[in-house]
Amino acid sequence: MILKFPDNFIFGTAISAFQTEMGSSKESVSENSDWYKWVHDENNIKDGIVSGDLPENGDGFWDLYREDISNAKYMGNNSIRLSIDWARIFPDNIEDIYANIKYEGENIVGVTLPKNSLKEMLSSSNQKAIEHYKEIFKFIKDSGLLLFLTLYHWPLPLWLHDPIKCHDNIETCEKKGWLDNKTIIEFGKYAYFISDVFSKYVDIWETINEPDIIASQGYFFGNLFGFLPGVSDISKAFKVEKNLALAHNISFKNIKKFNKNKEVGIGIAPQYFEPIKNDSETTRFVKFIKYLNNEWFLNATNFGLFDNNLDMIFDEKIENIVPPDYIGIDYYQRVKIGYKGLPDVPYIFNIDLLPCEDCTDFMWDIYPQGLRFVSNELFEKYHRPLYILENGIADAKDLKRSRFLIDHLIELKKTIDEDKIPIKGYYHWSLIDNYEWARGFSMRFGLYSVDYNTKKRHPTKAVEIYKKICNGEEFDEQYR
Ligand code: BGC
Repeated sequence: MILKFPDNFIFGTAISAFQTEMGSSKESVSENSDWYKWVHDENNIKDGIVSGDLPENGDGFWDLYREDISNAKYMGNNSIRLSIDWARIFPDNIEDIYANIKYEGENIVGVTLPKNSLKEMLSSSNQKAIEHYKEIFKFIKDSGLLLFLTLYHWPLPLWLHDPIKCHDNIETCEKKGWLDNKTIIEFGKYAYFISDVFSKYVDIWETINEPDIIASQGYFFGNLFGFLPGVSDISKAFKVEKNLALAHNISFKNIKKFNKNKEVGIGIAPQYFEPIKNDSETTRFVKFIKYLNNEWFLNATNFGLFDNNLDMIFDEKIENIVPPDYIGIDYYQRVKIGYKGLPDVPYIFNIDLLPCEDCTDFMWDIYPQGLRFVSNELFEKYHRPLYILENGIADAKDLKRSRFLIDHLIELKKTIDEDKIPIKGYYHWSLIDNYEWARGFSMRFGLYSVDYNTKKRHPTKAVEIYKKICNGEEFDEQYR
């Protein structure tokens, strides 16, 4: 079998800072983020909210990056996607540094830094960390890979968010993270500063990874997924999502200021939602879930349209919103949904989630056709070019990864060739096994598996297949 993609197609692999950097030296450890605090919290561990695995025992990409980037290169990747750690660069509070803030009504729509403030940001930043990131980026460029940089992949500096106090009482805690408008301003400053410092190295930018997941898993599902701060309040979830949309918009403009000709976009995690029945109630309900999960955020960032009370009617239009250059899709699974129809519970809690048919270790349902479906839908709605920024499988025994990869790439090719959807690249999650948030080291997503004791990387079976596909070579179909 051969799967030929367009000549300029980007094939890559993705990782994130918190999930891979720590584990190789004292310097690799970054302790000043909310996620670091959250996964070390004794009560969280005792209550089983988090695994008890600790990120400082992880991959050590901070020191071993040469090997990992060389492995990406070996696979024929022409790009790598990674993120930087805000809390590592700004471990201390910098709220006092002045920024120009622009409002539209009560909404923050612009944050810029005058020259003096930019200088102050530089002197308040962790210079060693910045220099080290530059070394990594230089190695990526020297290896001939395009650098795809995600500004923010989830951990916040502790001076902006105390996840433990907010878990205990979200009303009284002082450092409320994304619930607080202050975080939008600080993110704007961070984006302005980072683009000034790193633009020279970066080819494609992403502002925020999966704002939808930050909001839903952290503020709607309570302790279910172990995401911080483990709150269950839908109005707070969508306040967070609105703040993330505003933060994206501001950071988009700030990155563009320094990167006029580079693509800057946003990535969300749309899933393929399938109704288990065709009756009108189930269809209507699944439409609602899809709207909240796949569309709410993009309506805000593409059209400036906000639905603040979640009735599927827009009640606010913000003019100063600039649509992103692309939409990133992180596609993992099909979710089969039923409607319970219980009159006494809020509509959204009527969700009936069915178990997976073809399961990953995470018990996610493998469904490659969903990638094609979701890509078509999002392109039709938003008319932006697309990147697949994440797609992968937790598969510790390496039994299904090759089939997963091939089948998703077959669907991707159909989406490009037959449906004519402009998908510009595919990043597999993940290059190496990594720290899976509340689940720690148990979920193995890596094309290269990692022995956390020795830090040795071992290729899974899918490495040789991905290599052949990236190079446009024939591969043996028996691998499926
Ligand atoms: C996140 C990654 C995570 C992956 C697998 C994505 O939602 O961006 O950080 O490891 O899913 O769960």
